[in-house]
Amino acid sequence: MCGIVGYVGERQACPVIIKGLHRLEYRGYDSAGVAIVHPDGVIDIHKCKGKVSGLEAFLAGKDSSGTIGIGHTRWATHGEPNDINAHPHFSRSGEIALIHNGIIENFRVLRDALRTNGFTFRSSTDSEVLVNLIEYVRESGKCSLEEAVRVALKQVVGAYAIAIVEKGNTSRIIAARKSSPMAIGIGDGEYFLSSDAASIIDYTQDFVYLKDNEVAVIEKGKPLHIMNLDGKDSKVAVQKLKMSISQLEKGGFDHFMLKEIYEQPETLEDCVRGRVIPDSKEIVLSGVLNNKEKFLKARRIIFVACGTSWHASLIGEHLIENMCRIPVEVEYASEFRYRNPILYPDDIVIAVSQSGETADTLAAVDLARKAGAFIYGICNVVGSSIPRATDSGTYIHVGPEIGVASTKAFTGQVTVMTMLALLVGRLRGTIEEGYYHRVAQAILELPATIREALNTAEPVSALARTFTYAHNFIYLGRGYNYPTALEGALKLKEISYIHAEGLPAAEMKHGPIALIDSEMPTVAIATLDKTYEKTLSNIEEIKARGGKIIAIVSKGDDLVRRSADYCIEVPSTVECLMPLVSVIPLQLLAYYIATYKGRNVDQPRNLAKSVTVE
Ligand code: G6P
Repeated sequence: MCGIVGYVGERQACPVIIKGLHRLEYRGYDSAGVAIVHPDGVIDIHKCKGKVSGLEAFLAGKDSSGTIGIGHTRWATHGEPNDINAHPHFSRSGEIALIHNGIIENFRVLRDALRTNGFTFRSSTDSEVLVNLIEYVRESGKCSLEEAVRVALKQVVGAYAIAIVEKGNTSRIIAARKSSPMAIGIGDGEYFLSSDAASIIDYTQDFVYLKDNEVAVIEKGKPLHIMNLDGKDSKVAVQKLKMSISQLEKGGFDHFMLKEIYEQPETLEDCVRGRVIPDSKEIVLSGVLNNKEKFLKARRIIFVACGTSWHASLIGEHLIENMCRIPVEVEYASEFRYRNPILYPDDIVIAVSQSGETADTLAAVDLARKAGAFIYGICNVVGSSIPRATDSGTYIHVGPEIGVASTKAFTGQVTVMTMLALLVGRLRGTIEEGYYHRVAQAILELPATIREALNTAEPVSALARTFTYAHNFIYLGRGYNYPTALEGALKLKEISYIHAEGLPAAEMKHGPIALIDSEMPTVAIATLDKTYEKTLSNIEEIKARGGKIIAIVSKGDDLVRRSADYCIEVPSTVECLMPLVSVIPLQLLAYYIATYKGRNVDQPRNLAKSVTVE
């Protein structure tokens, strides 16, 4: 979704901003632009629909000199993606240029009020309304820009991260945030600005994360000044971001998604390291251990999440109910937040989010907090908004996920949930000791198991060629693997644009089996578990109606082969960890079908990596 980069210092700002915008491309966007303040104080805005590379071409031959500037990638919310709606936006007089992430919900009211004061608008965006509101406040109140920003933002309902430059000022950027991330990178006599700190780690590892309702005055050669909307000074807390540049690059793979699929043995090793002690099999999750009482007394656990994180949560439901005997509910964050849900003080709400910035999940966390529940986060991006808003939690530590289609975050989330369920189950005495040890051992062996599952790449790639023709797919699973079927279908939809539906296998006969014919392939997860025989029957029913079946089966299993058209063998592990294994060929299948269809795998159309608007 929208991205922000800014720079003020001694370097040329434009190359720094363009590089940062490239790093933000994976989040999904449809237009890009920069505002540079030239050494003579004149601001030039260059912006266009399309990719950052298009913006670079557009800039060629133009004067982009200047040591201060702001840049933006836009994901359209108000107004179609075009050159005019792209950011930055000038105020009426051209004195102020602004970039904005988020949504100003009351922009119509504000726009109407500005119109009655003679303002006109070039674009259809809520952002242009905001920059003009700031100008109006500054003119009518005869106040400084920083004060005008604070006063204007008090009138705004919605979410924003903004950055502003001003004509005639070659040393200062003003930034502010509410419900949309903003990090300020601190260099030597220079400052960087970004909606995602990772995009500027080429330059610094020291960051200040703005909090909601804070305004920052970022001035070259001066200490960073942060205040709240009333002008009261806030503390400037610098944090170190430990991330290497190689973690952000493709490492020889054609796409980030493929790199991230192949990284999973290592990312799971990182995720488990120090958390399952190899000798004793003790599980150390400080987020749980420091809040033991909460987990011992929990009446209910409610997962709130979106997308892939919601699928992982469905597996979490099985894990926790099985091992901890605590009732679990899994909620789409977007539904939960608007449903007036019933929450008790002894409920635990677990917010699951790769980015830690998903607007609906963050709002669900706020709601749960107001209701007095204990909130636990399972997130990937360290220091992001959701972990900062929770009472406690566990990072999945799988490294930056760049491909829009989530892969290694899913396996990291399920692994953390398994460790959590084991630990809480043991604390509550609801888990049998032998089972605990078997699962803990299997977690330690996960990197090797996933490495073996990656051997499916070759047969899956061959199979993908056969199925590029398909317009629809059905994915089936049962038990722990029903959410895996949902996840497999989502992966295919997201990156190949083929319609796919995930279903519990037994539900087929309640309607969807009517869709079966020779043109409708079914991917059935039929690994050896307690519902294996039942899944076999479901496969037979599809076969009998002329459907084509691709089955994911346990290594050495010959039985499914008799009914399925194609079998992909995966290694075995304990049943509760099988989703981590069976999802691997499904990730690969989606990847290869999408690449054979020539799709943009890492940045699929219409999608965003981090959905910071609701
Ligand atoms: C977007 C992404 C998905 C992701 C979902 C939830 O839709 O494209 O891959 O699963 O957001 O994101 P989160 O960061 O909260 O896990």
